[in-house]
Amino acid sequence: MNIDFHQILPRSTYILHKNDKYIFIIPEKPDWVVANKNFASILLKLDGKTSIKDILNTYKNHNYINDLEKTLKKLVEENFFYDVQQKCINSKNKLYTLHLNMTSKCNLKCVYCYAEERDNNINDDIDIECYKKMLDEVYEINKNTIVTFTGGEPLLNDKTLLLAQYCKDKGLGTMLLTNGTLIDENNAYEIAKNFDSIRVSIEGATEKTHDKIRGKSSYLKAIKGINLLKKYNNNPLIATTVNNINKHEMADMVKKYGNNLHFQPIYSVGRAKNTKLEIDGEEYYNILNTIDGVKPHAFLQKHIANMKNRGCLKCAIGEGEISIASNGDVYPCHMLHTKDFYSGNIKKQSFSEIYNNSKVLINIRNMSVNNRQTCKLCPVRLLCAGGCWARAYYESGDLNGFDSFCDYELLSYKNALLNLSKSN
Ligand SMILES: C[S@@+](CC[C@H](N)C(=O)[O-])C[C@H]1O[C@@H](n2cnc3c(N)ncnc32)[C@H](O)[C@@H]1O
Ligand code: SF4
Ligand code: SF4
Repeated sequence: MNIDFHQILPRSTYILHKNDKYIFIIPEKPDWVVANKNFASILLKLDGKTSIKDILNTYKNHNYINDLEKTLKKLVEENFFYDVQQKCINSKNKLYTLHLNMTSKCNLKCVYCYAEERDNNINDDIDIECYKKMLDEVYEINKNTIVTFTGGEPLLNDKTLLLAQYCKDKGLGTMLLTNGTLIDENNAYEIAKNFDSIRVSIEGATEKTHDKIRGKSSYLKAIKGINLLKKYNNNPLIATTVNNINKHEMADMVKKYGNNLHFQPIYSVGRAKNTKLEIDGEEYYNILNTIDGVKPHAFLQKHIANMKNRGCLKCAIGEGEISIASNGDVYPCHMLHTKDFYSGNIKKQSFSEIYNNSKVLINIRNMSVNNRQTCKLCPVRLLCAGGCWARAYYESGDLNGFDSFCDYELLSYKNALLNLSKSN
């Protein structure tokens, strides 16, 4: 390695700054280095006129010279100073989650549900052999796919348990999204055994708030279901959709359920449309960030570390994720069961033919956050990948459009980067 070389920071370098912390981020790689004020001022000296050797000479009598030399050499070795030569790799794996909507029917009528009315009037008429053939093909595409059973209420369909068992026997992962109210002594053991993970939707810390959203008596039934699953050693995650009715109870939810919570923001879709229940990205960020015990950045920091020098060109839509309606229609995302995104039907074609050849899916796979008008100059674009593209579609009518959760993404990623330790 030639430390005499006159290094220069790539022109696209952004500097995020908070207190004594500076993050130099090169968006198109994406790569970054965390610096204190001292090191930041040294990095800024690398303007093509001063070499690393010059810098090491200047600081040779300082007590941090060894650390400085080590860090600068590491950055040179890792090509930090070079402009990116090739397009980044999309790190999303092939088909890691398959949503199986087992029915469009439901025994509840939640005030904001996106699903129940969307697939209204379609029959749950896929026979079990057709499902099994499809799952065999999924297994050939990716042996580690997680099959998520959802709906409507998936426990209304008898095939849900049989298929979960089929997936487990093959080695595919299984997840159940349920309202919990149909779990009883007769089925709890089988449910607990056949799902690797279960999410039960609970809307608030109090029975009153939950029932206001999900209907009378639904809270006590869901809690009973959760306790039965626990009895059979499957401790479900609590899934909470944050909205204007329950947002004030999130701190109490954390006190009650600790880390066993999965928060998701509401989408203004289906029954939630025109209800004024939605919150915007900044508010969602502030709600999560002001609760003691919630560390929204903890998971992001893992994700960021994974993305270093790889990046991600878009969310899972159409490649990492596929969703199948209860009549066999295939879509690129569980939130996008609309005519525009119809990609085929598993009763008429084989799953792999649809997955590999559908024009809708191929078009989506060719999309990239680098080409999105609102994202293409964003410093965190290859970490954020443009957020949830389905939300953009619903808010602007275009997968490439703007969505109100950009504020949430930007705040989250900037703060996650600023919270990185030096060793990152
Ligand atoms: C559609 S439900 C299906 C599974 C099951 N019936 C349940 O309620 O958990 C899956 C998840 O989507 C959430 N959900 C429903 N409508 C939503 C919306 N408009 N925005 C965000 N999440 C929503 C539910 O709260 C639930 O956690
Ligand atoms: S959110 Fe789940 S439980 Fe509620 S109406 Fe929709 S499908 Fe049914
Ligand atoms: S959604 Fe916002 S934060 Fe994410 S890449 Fe686009 S502009 Fe950046």
